[in-house]
Amino acid sequence: MAASISSALLLLLNMAGALLSPRASPAPASTGADDGGDVEFLFFPFLVLYKSGRVERFMGTDTVPASTDPVTGVASKDVVIDAGGGLAVRLYMPNLANCTAVRCAGKLPVVVFYHGGGFVTESAFSPTYQRYLNALVSKAGVLAVSVDYRLAPEHPLPAGYDDAWVALLWVLKNARSGPEPWLSRHADLTRLFLVGDSAGGNIAHNMAMRAGRDGLPGGATIRGIALLDPFFLGKRPVPSETRDPEVRRARNRTWSFVCAGRYGIDDPVINPVAMASEEWRRLGCARVLVTVAGLDTLSARGRAYVEALRSSRWGGEVELYETAGENHVYFLVKTDCEKAAKEMEAVVAFINSDQVITASRMDA
Ligand SMILES: *[C@@H]1O[C@H](CO)[C@@H](O)[C@H](O)[C@H]1NC(C)=O
Ligand SMILES: *[C@@H]1O[C@H](CO)[C@@H](O)[C@H](O)[C@H]1NC(C)=O
Repeated sequence: MAASISSALLLLLNMAGALLSPRASPAPASTGADDGGDVEFLFFPFLVLYKSGRVERFMGTDTVPASTDPVTGVASKDVVIDAGGGLAVRLYMPNLANCTAVRCAGKLPVVVFYHGGGFVTESAFSPTYQRYLNALVSKAGVLAVSVDYRLAPEHPLPAGYDDAWVALLWVLKNARSGPEPWLSRHADLTRLFLVGDSAGGNIAHNMAMRAGRDGLPGGATIRGIALLDPFFLGKRPVPSETRDPEVRRARNRTWSFVCAGRYGIDDPVINPVAMASEEWRRLGCARVLVTVAGLDTLSARGRAYVEALRSSRWGGEVELYETAGENHVYFLVKTDCEKAAKEMEAVVAFINSDQVITASRMDA
Protein backbone atom coordinates (compact mmCIF):
# COMPACT_ATOMS: atom_id res chain seq x y z
CA MET A 1 0.00 0.00 0.00
CA ALA A 2 2.71 2.44 1.03
CA ALA A 3 4.60 1.51 -2.11
CA SER A 4 1.69 2.29 -4.37
CA ILE A 5 1.11 5.65 -2.70
CA SER A 6 4.77 6.43 -3.16
CA SER A 7 4.80 5.55 -6.80
CA ALA A 8 1.67 7.58 -7.46
CA LEU A 9 3.33 10.51 -5.75
CA LEU A 10 6.49 9.95 -7.70
CA LEU A 11 4.56 9.93 -10.91
CA LEU A 12 3.06 13.28 -9.96
CA LEU A 13 6.48 14.63 -9.09
CA ASN A 14 7.89 13.34 -12.35
CA MET A 15 5.19 15.18 -14.15
CA ALA A 16 6.01 18.21 -12.04
CA GLY A 17 9.61 17.90 -13.13
CA ALA A 18 9.06 20.67 -15.60
CA LEU A 19 7.59 22.75 -12.77
CA LEU A 20 4.57 23.59 -14.67
CA SER A 21 4.98 22.67 -18.24
CA PRO A 22 2.29 24.42 -20.18
CA ARG A 23 -1.04 22.62 -20.20
CA ALA A 24 -3.39 23.25 -23.02
CA SER A 25 -6.48 23.01 -20.92
CA PRO A 26 -5.85 23.85 -17.32
CA ALA A 27 -9.29 23.03 -16.00
CA PRO A 28 -9.33 19.62 -14.35
CA ALA A 29 -12.60 17.72 -14.22
CA SER A 30 -15.10 19.92 -12.47
CA THR A 31 -14.61 19.55 -8.75
CA GLY A 32 -16.18 22.58 -7.16
CA ALA A 33 -19.86 23.13 -6.88
CA ASP A 34 -20.47 26.84 -6.44
CA ASP A 35 -17.41 28.11 -8.28
CA GLY A 36 -18.39 26.21 -11.41
CA GLY A 37 -14.81 24.96 -11.73
CA ASP A 38 -13.64 28.21 -13.33
CA VAL A 39 -9.91 28.08 -13.06
CA GLU A 40 -7.87 31.17 -12.29
CA PHE A 41 -4.53 29.36 -12.14
CA LEU A 42 -3.29 25.80 -12.23
CA PHE A 43 0.03 25.09 -10.58
CA PHE A 44 0.41 21.53 -11.78
CA PRO A 45 0.53 19.12 -10.03
CA PHE A 46 0.23 20.93 -6.74
CA LEU A 47 -2.94 22.97 -6.74
CA VAL A 48 -5.63 24.85 -8.55
CA LEU A 49 -6.91 28.30 -7.70
CA TYR A 50 -10.49 28.86 -8.81
CA LYS A 51 -11.84 32.21 -9.88
CA SER A 52 -14.05 32.07 -6.80
CA GLY A 53 -10.86 32.30 -4.72
CA ARG A 54 -11.07 28.72 -3.52
CA VAL A 55 -7.77 26.84 -3.48
CA GLU A 56 -7.69 23.11 -3.98
CA ARG A 57 -4.46 21.27 -3.19
CA PHE A 58 -3.91 17.92 -4.89
CA MET A 59 -1.04 16.82 -2.69
CA GLY A 60 0.93 17.66 0.41
CA THR A 61 -2.00 18.22 2.75
CA ASP A 62 -1.75 15.00 4.80
CA THR A 63 -0.25 15.37 8.25
CA VAL A 64 1.04 13.03 10.92
CA PRO A 65 1.41 13.83 14.61
CA ALA A 66 4.76 14.39 16.26
CA SER A 67 5.94 11.15 17.84
CA THR A 68 8.81 8.95 18.85
CA ASP A 69 9.79 7.03 15.77
CA PRO A 70 9.93 3.32 16.59
CA VAL A 71 12.58 2.62 13.96
CA THR A 72 15.15 5.32 14.76
CA GLY A 73 14.15 6.39 18.25
CA VAL A 74 14.00 9.99 17.04
CA ALA A 75 11.54 12.08 19.06
CA SER A 76 9.59 14.97 17.59
CA LYS A 77 7.32 17.65 19.01
CA ASP A 78 5.53 20.72 17.70
CA VAL A 79 6.06 24.22 19.00
CA VAL A 80 4.01 27.25 18.03
CA ILE A 81 6.32 30.23 17.59
CA ASP A 82 3.72 32.85 16.82
CA ALA A 83 0.14 32.01 17.67
CA GLY A 84 -1.11 35.14 15.85
CA GLY A 85 0.47 34.36 12.51
CA GLY A 86 0.26 30.61 13.06
CA LEU A 87 3.98 30.04 12.61
CA ALA A 88 5.02 26.68 14.05
CA VAL A 89 7.94 24.29 13.89
CA ARG A 90 8.40 20.57 14.38
CA LEU A 91 11.47 19.83 16.49
CA TYR A 92 13.43 16.60 16.17
CA MET A 93 15.80 15.13 18.70
CA PRO A 94 17.86 11.96 18.18
CA ASN A 95 17.81 9.21 20.79
CA LEU A 96 20.98 10.15 22.65
CA ALA A 97 21.30 6.72 24.25
CA ASN A 98 21.42 5.31 20.75
CA CYS A 99 23.79 7.71 19.12
CA THR A 100 27.14 5.96 19.16
CA ALA A 101 27.21 5.52 15.39
CA VAL A 102 27.24 9.27 14.99
CA ARG A 103 29.05 11.85 16.99
CA CYS A 104 26.46 12.77 19.58
CA ALA A 105 28.87 13.42 22.42
CA GLY A 106 28.29 16.84 23.93
CA LYS A 107 26.03 19.25 22.09
CA LEU A 108 24.53 18.54 18.70
CA PRO A 109 24.68 20.34 15.36
CA VAL A 110 21.44 22.14 14.52
CA VAL A 111 19.64 21.76 11.21
CA VAL A 112 16.94 24.27 10.34
CA PHE A 113 14.95 22.52 7.64
CA TYR A 114 12.73 24.14 5.01
CA HIS A 115 10.43 21.75 3.17
CA GLY A 116 9.66 21.89 -0.54
CA GLY A 117 6.36 21.96 -2.40
CA GLY A 118 6.66 24.86 -4.83
CA PHE A 119 5.98 27.42 -2.06
CA VAL A 120 2.35 26.34 -2.26
CA THR A 121 1.96 22.97 -0.58
CA GLU A 122 3.42 20.46 1.92
CA SER A 123 4.14 21.21 5.56
CA ALA A 124 6.50 20.46 8.39
CA PHE A 125 3.90 17.93 9.55
CA SER A 126 3.50 15.86 6.41
CA PRO A 127 4.39 12.16 6.45
CA THR A 128 6.91 12.77 3.65
CA TYR A 129 8.95 15.22 5.70
CA GLN A 130 8.43 13.40 9.01
CA ARG A 131 10.04 10.36 7.38
CA TYR A 132 12.88 12.35 5.84
CA LEU A 133 13.65 14.24 9.06
CA ASN A 134 13.54 11.11 11.23
CA ALA A 135 16.10 9.54 8.91
CA LEU A 136 18.33 12.61 8.67
CA VAL A 137 18.27 13.26 12.42
CA SER A 138 19.11 9.68 13.35
CA LYS A 139 21.84 9.32 10.75
CA ALA A 140 23.50 12.70 11.29
CA GLY A 141 22.93 12.95 15.04
CA VAL A 142 21.53 16.46 14.81
CA LEU A 143 18.77 18.48 16.36
CA ALA A 144 16.40 19.56 13.61
CA VAL A 145 13.82 22.29 13.40
CA SER A 146 11.42 21.84 10.49
CA VAL A 147 9.69 25.12 9.70
CA ASP A 148 6.01 25.33 8.85
CA TYR A 149 6.16 28.58 6.88
CA ARG A 150 3.06 30.11 5.29
CA LEU A 151 2.17 29.08 1.75
CA ALA A 152 1.06 30.84 -1.41
CA PRO A 153 -1.33 31.74 -2.88
CA GLU A 154 -3.10 32.56 0.41
CA HIS A 155 0.19 34.04 1.64
CA PRO A 156 2.35 34.91 -1.35
CA LEU A 157 6.09 35.40 -0.97
CA PRO A 158 7.73 37.05 0.89
CA ALA A 159 5.46 35.60 3.64
CA GLY A 160 7.29 32.27 3.45
CA TYR A 161 10.71 33.98 3.52
CA ASP A 162 9.65 36.13 6.48
CA ASP A 163 8.47 33.08 8.43
CA ALA A 164 11.65 31.22 7.58
CA TRP A 165 13.69 34.11 8.97
CA VAL A 166 11.58 34.46 12.14
CA ALA A 167 11.96 30.73 12.76
CA LEU A 168 15.73 30.99 12.33
CA LEU A 169 15.90 33.83 14.87
CA TRP A 170 13.69 31.79 17.22
CA VAL A 171 16.15 28.89 17.00
CA LEU A 172 19.09 31.18 17.84
CA LYS A 173 17.30 32.73 20.79
CA ASN A 174 16.13 29.41 22.21
CA ALA A 175 19.51 27.76 21.74
CA ARG A 176 21.07 30.53 23.82
CA SER A 177 18.53 31.15 26.53
CA GLY A 178 15.49 28.94 26.07
CA PRO A 179 12.81 28.40 27.07
CA GLU A 180 12.74 25.50 24.57
CA PRO A 181 14.77 22.86 26.46
CA TRP A 182 15.81 20.67 23.53
CA LEU A 183 17.51 23.67 21.99
CA SER A 184 18.86 25.30 25.16
CA ARG A 185 20.35 22.03 26.42
CA HIS A 186 21.57 20.36 23.27
CA ALA A 187 22.09 22.85 20.44
CA ASP A 188 25.63 23.67 19.34
CA LEU A 189 25.19 26.96 17.50
CA THR A 190 28.72 26.81 16.09
CA ARG A 191 27.38 24.01 13.88
CA LEU A 192 24.26 25.58 12.45
CA PHE A 193 23.06 24.29 9.08
CA LEU A 194 20.16 25.26 6.85
CA VAL A 195 18.80 22.46 4.69
CA GLY A 196 15.92 22.48 2.24
CA ASP A 197 14.64 20.68 -0.83
CA SER A 198 13.21 22.33 -3.94
CA ALA A 199 11.43 25.53 -2.81
CA GLY A 200 12.97 24.87 0.61
CA GLY A 201 16.42 24.95 -0.99
CA ASN A 202 15.53 28.33 -2.44
CA ILE A 203 14.50 29.47 1.05
CA ALA A 204 17.71 28.17 2.66
CA HIS A 205 19.78 30.09 0.09
CA ASN A 206 17.79 33.27 0.71
CA MET A 207 18.17 32.96 4.48
CA ALA A 208 21.95 32.66 4.07
CA MET A 209 21.92 35.74 1.80
CA ARG A 210 19.97 37.68 4.39
CA ALA A 211 22.26 36.48 7.18
CA GLY A 212 25.25 37.64 5.11
CA ARG A 213 23.70 41.05 4.44
CA ASP A 214 22.02 41.82 7.77
CA GLY A 215 23.98 39.57 10.14
CA LEU A 216 22.48 37.26 12.72
CA PRO A 217 21.89 38.29 16.33
CA GLY A 218 24.74 37.76 18.76
CA GLY A 219 27.22 37.25 15.95
CA ALA A 220 25.83 33.78 15.15
CA THR A 221 27.00 32.27 11.88
CA ILE A 222 25.68 29.61 9.56
CA ARG A 223 28.22 26.86 8.96
CA GLY A 224 26.60 25.42 5.90
CA ILE A 225 23.57 25.29 3.64
CA ALA A 226 22.45 22.16 1.79
CA LEU A 227 20.23 22.88 -1.20
CA LEU A 228 18.62 19.64 -2.35
CA ASP A 229 17.29 19.92 -5.92
CA PRO A 230 16.77 23.64 -5.34
CA PHE A 231 14.08 25.65 -7.09
CA PHE A 232 15.62 28.52 -9.04
CA LEU A 233 14.51 30.10 -12.30
CA GLY A 234 15.61 32.95 -14.54
CA LYS A 235 14.77 34.73 -17.75
CA ARG A 236 17.71 33.60 -19.88
CA PRO A 237 18.43 29.90 -20.20
CA VAL A 238 21.50 28.56 -18.40
CA PRO A 239 23.51 25.79 -20.10
CA SER A 240 21.42 22.66 -20.78
CA GLU A 241 18.19 24.34 -19.64
CA THR A 242 15.13 24.23 -21.88
CA ARG A 243 14.79 27.07 -24.38
CA ASP A 244 11.17 26.25 -25.16
CA PRO A 245 9.50 29.68 -24.89
CA GLU A 246 6.18 28.21 -23.82
CA VAL A 247 7.74 26.30 -20.95
CA ARG A 248 9.70 29.37 -19.93
CA ARG A 249 6.62 31.57 -20.02
CA ALA A 250 4.71 29.04 -17.94
CA ARG A 251 7.48 28.98 -15.33
CA ASN A 252 7.48 32.74 -15.23
CA ARG A 253 3.72 32.71 -14.64
CA THR A 254 4.17 30.17 -11.86
CA TRP A 255 6.75 32.35 -10.19
CA SER A 256 4.51 35.42 -10.50
CA PHE A 257 1.74 33.35 -8.94
CA VAL A 258 3.68 32.31 -5.85
CA CYS A 259 4.96 35.84 -5.19
CA ALA A 260 1.86 37.67 -6.47
CA GLY A 261 4.03 39.60 -8.91
CA ARG A 262 6.26 40.99 -6.17
CA TYR A 263 9.56 39.77 -7.65
CA GLY A 264 10.55 39.53 -11.29
CA ILE A 265 11.91 36.30 -12.78
CA ASP A 266 15.45 37.71 -12.53
CA ASP A 267 15.14 38.94 -8.98
CA PRO A 268 18.04 37.42 -7.00
CA VAL A 269 15.61 35.60 -4.72
CA ILE A 270 14.66 33.32 -7.62
CA ASN A 271 17.60 33.87 -9.96
CA PRO A 272 20.78 34.06 -7.89
CA VAL A 273 22.79 33.27 -11.04
CA ALA A 274 22.00 36.83 -12.15
CA MET A 275 23.78 38.25 -9.10
CA ALA A 276 27.07 40.09 -9.44
CA SER A 277 30.11 38.49 -7.84
CA GLU A 278 30.10 41.03 -4.98
CA GLU A 279 26.58 39.92 -4.11
CA TRP A 280 27.51 36.25 -4.15
CA ARG A 281 30.40 36.95 -1.83
CA ARG A 282 27.92 38.03 0.83
CA LEU A 283 26.42 34.55 1.01
CA GLY A 284 26.46 34.15 4.78
CA CYS A 285 27.81 30.67 5.39
CA ALA A 286 31.09 28.80 5.18
CA ARG A 287 30.03 25.79 3.11
CA VAL A 288 27.45 24.94 0.47
CA LEU A 289 26.18 21.60 -0.82
CA VAL A 290 23.95 21.56 -3.89
CA THR A 291 22.38 18.31 -5.02
CA VAL A 292 20.82 17.78 -8.45
CA ALA A 293 18.99 14.86 -10.05
CA GLY A 294 19.87 14.07 -13.65
CA LEU A 295 16.32 13.90 -15.02
CA ASP A 296 15.13 16.99 -13.14
CA THR A 297 14.58 19.97 -15.43
CA LEU A 298 15.64 22.19 -12.53
CA SER A 299 19.07 20.52 -12.35
CA ALA A 300 20.55 22.99 -14.87
CA ARG A 301 19.88 25.80 -12.40
CA GLY A 302 21.48 23.86 -9.55
CA ARG A 303 24.63 23.38 -11.59
CA ALA A 304 24.62 27.01 -12.69
CA TYR A 305 24.33 28.05 -9.04
CA VAL A 306 27.48 26.11 -8.14
CA GLU A 307 29.28 27.47 -11.22
CA ALA A 308 28.38 31.08 -10.38
CA LEU A 309 29.28 30.71 -6.72
CA ARG A 310 32.65 29.20 -7.61
CA SER A 311 33.51 31.90 -10.10
CA SER A 312 32.47 34.68 -7.70
CA ARG A 313 35.53 34.08 -5.53
CA TRP A 314 33.29 33.65 -2.52
CA GLY A 315 35.51 32.47 0.31
CA GLY A 316 33.74 29.24 1.25
CA GLU A 317 33.61 25.66 0.04
CA VAL A 318 31.01 24.53 -2.47
CA GLU A 319 30.20 20.99 -3.48
CA LEU A 320 27.92 19.65 -6.22
CA TYR A 321 26.38 16.20 -5.73
CA GLU A 322 24.74 14.68 -8.80
CA THR A 323 22.49 11.65 -9.05
CA ALA A 324 22.01 10.32 -12.56
CA GLY A 325 18.77 8.87 -13.85
CA GLU A 326 16.47 10.27 -11.16
CA ASN A 327 13.86 12.99 -11.03
CA HIS A 328 13.14 16.02 -8.89
CA VAL A 329 13.30 15.18 -5.14
CA TYR A 330 13.20 11.43 -5.87
CA PHE A 331 14.84 10.88 -2.45
CA LEU A 332 11.64 11.92 -0.67
CA VAL A 333 9.56 9.27 -2.37
CA LYS A 334 11.91 6.46 -3.33
CA THR A 335 13.31 6.49 0.17
CA ASP A 336 14.49 2.90 0.06
CA CYS A 337 16.47 3.09 -3.16
CA GLU A 338 20.24 2.93 -3.06
CA LYS A 339 20.67 6.33 -4.68
CA ALA A 340 18.52 7.96 -2.01
CA ALA A 341 20.60 6.26 0.69
CA LYS A 342 23.79 7.54 -0.93
CA GLU A 343 22.41 11.05 -1.22
CA MET A 344 21.42 10.95 2.43
CA GLU A 345 24.97 9.88 3.28
CA ALA A 346 26.29 12.87 1.34
CA VAL A 347 24.07 15.24 3.33
CA VAL A 348 25.09 13.56 6.60
CA ALA A 349 28.78 13.77 5.64
CA PHE A 350 28.35 17.44 4.73
CA ILE A 351 27.01 18.14 8.22
CA ASN A 352 29.34 15.90 10.16
CA SER A 353 32.58 16.56 8.27
CA ASP A 354 32.19 20.14 9.34
CA GLN A 355 33.01 19.07 12.86
CA VAL A 356 36.40 17.88 11.68
CA ILE A 357 37.04 20.98 9.60
CA THR A 358 36.01 23.21 12.51
CA ALA A 359 38.28 21.35 14.88
CA SER A 360 41.31 21.50 12.60
CA ARG A 361 40.72 25.17 11.92
CA MET A 362 40.52 25.83 15.63
CA ASP A 363 43.78 23.93 16.17
CA ALA A 364 45.53 25.89 13.49
C1 LIG B 1 18.71 2.76 17.57
O1 LIG B 1 18.93 3.02 16.19
C2 LIG B 1 18.77 1.89 15.37
C3 LIG B 1 19.13 2.26 13.96
O2 LIG B 1 18.95 3.61 13.69
C4 LIG B 1 17.36 1.35 15.50
O3 LIG B 1 17.21 0.19 14.74
C5 LIG B 1 17.03 1.07 16.95
O4 LIG B 1 15.70 0.71 17.07
C6 LIG B 1 17.29 2.28 17.81
N1 LIG B 1 17.08 1.97 19.20
C7 LIG B 1 16.36 2.75 19.99
C8 LIG B 1 16.25 2.35 21.41
O5 LIG B 1 15.81 3.74 19.59
C1 LIG C 1 6.71 37.23 -16.37
O1 LIG C 1 5.40 37.40 -15.90
C2 LIG C 1 5.11 38.73 -15.49
C3 LIG C 1 3.73 38.74 -14.86
O2 LIG C 1 2.81 38.00 -15.60
C4 LIG C 1 5.23 39.67 -16.67
O3 LIG C 1 4.98 41.00 -16.26
C5 LIG C 1 6.65 39.56 -17.23
O4 LIG C 1 6.75 40.35 -18.39
C6 LIG C 1 6.98 38.13 -17.57
N1 LIG C 1 8.38 38.05 -17.91
C7 LIG C 1 8.84 37.25 -18.85
C8 LIG C 1 10.30 37.26 -19.05
O5 LIG C 1 8.12 36.54 -19.52
